[in-house]
Amino acid sequence: MSKEYTCLGMMSGTSGDGVDASIIRSNGLNELTILREKYYEYDEKLFYKFHNLKKKINSLKDLKTFSSEIKKLENDITIFHAKAVKDISAGLNLDLIGFHGQTLYHNPEEKISLQLGNGNLLSQLSKKKIIFNFRKNDILNGGEGAPLTPIFHKHLIKSKKIELPACILNIGGISNLTVVGNMNDHEILSQDLGPGNCLINSWIQNNTNKKFDFGGEISSRGKVNEIILEQALEIYESNFKKKNNISLDTNDFDISFARGLSLEDGAATLTAFSAKIISTKINFLLNKHGKKIIKIIICGGGRKNTNLVKQIKLNSKKNISFYNSEDLELNGDFIESQAFGYIAIRSVLSLPISFPSTTGCNAPCSGGEAIDF
Ligand SMILES: Nc1ncnc2c1ncn2[C@@H]1O[C@H](COP(=O)(O)OP(=O)(O)O)[C@@H](O)[C@H]1O
Ligand SMILES: [Mg+2]
Repeated sequence: MSKEYTCLGMMSGTSGDGVDASIIRSNGLNELTILREKYYEYDEKLFYKFHNLKKKINSLKDLKTFSSEIKKLENDITIFHAKAVKDISAGLNLDLIGFHGQTLYHNPEEKISLQLGNGNLLSQLSKKKIIFNFRKNDILNGGEGAPLTPIFHKHLIKSKKIELPACILNIGGISNLTVVGNMNDHEILSQDLGPGNCLINSWIQNNTNKKFDFGGEISSRGKVNEIILEQALEIYESNFKKKNNISLDTNDFDISFARGLSLEDGAATLTAFSAKIISTKINFLLNKHGKKIIKIIICGGGRKNTNLVKQIKLNSKKNISFYNSEDLELNGDFIESQAFGYIAIRSVLSLPISFPSTTGCNAPCSGGEAIDF
């Protein structure tokens, strides 16, 4: 039997809302048990420190100017993670920690993917072996450094014995899709699709004292401004046709086209915009499967935005059948943190974590730096 590790995976995604933490026991291959899971929401101070710095960086498109602020924030974020480690692992002996860190900036064209997380400091504070900097090796091997979770999505689809082709749609700040085709030849395809919650979140954060549109309730009360929507989609299409990146960052999009609309109508229009981009891309990526029924399992915080999900379903091809992660007894809040636990174990075993068909790298490659305590 292959060796199993008890590993804590910690993920903080593009929404910048907090840290999802999962302790798993796995061999990095087919065996996996979930031991504990918990969400650690950023406190107000850390939340706004992160989002304000991200906004400043995006407006100047420059990291160097902010290097000392970035270092300070990285320190705060690492300490926040260390507290989470202490809390979630009480009484358990962890073999290692998969520490993704908080993405601050991701730009595949510049070959930069910056996650805030000091592996050395977390190792000292937690007295554990840390695997971090997951995206670097993929970028060095010609990949975009994202998405990295598809290898874990494949494991889930396999372990749940879901008929192929099957997909996982993750709706975080950004949305991404993993398509698992023929299991025998390890066919996985993945791509970031477009905005997930990021535009809706920005709109709500700019116009209310809330952080997101709970249940999609605000957008459901609004009316989509069809003229603005159509114009925004046209501009988006022409900008992205040129790029066709596999991976995206929240700074690839902006909400300025909604200004002037009421809170509800702006939320409705931005929700419709996000849903349209997601479903158009899904239809395009699944086109080659013809009329075959394809299952899509929806996970990530955005699955709880009922209006967004409803519109994605409405715009998608009729041969796609959607499931909520919970329908398959998967907790859709923690798939990404489980993934980074699983990926950390694969990193220790030098197994590949990214593939030409997932990140565009030249050959399957492992990744992640290890810091032993
Ligand atoms: N109850 C809810 N209703 C609507 N949206 C929600 C709800 N819960 C979470 N979300 C959305 O999900 C986001 C967090 O999802 P998450 O999967 O953690 O994304 P990320 O990986 O980008 O951090 C929140 O910022 C919010 O937009
Ligand atoms: Mg999150």
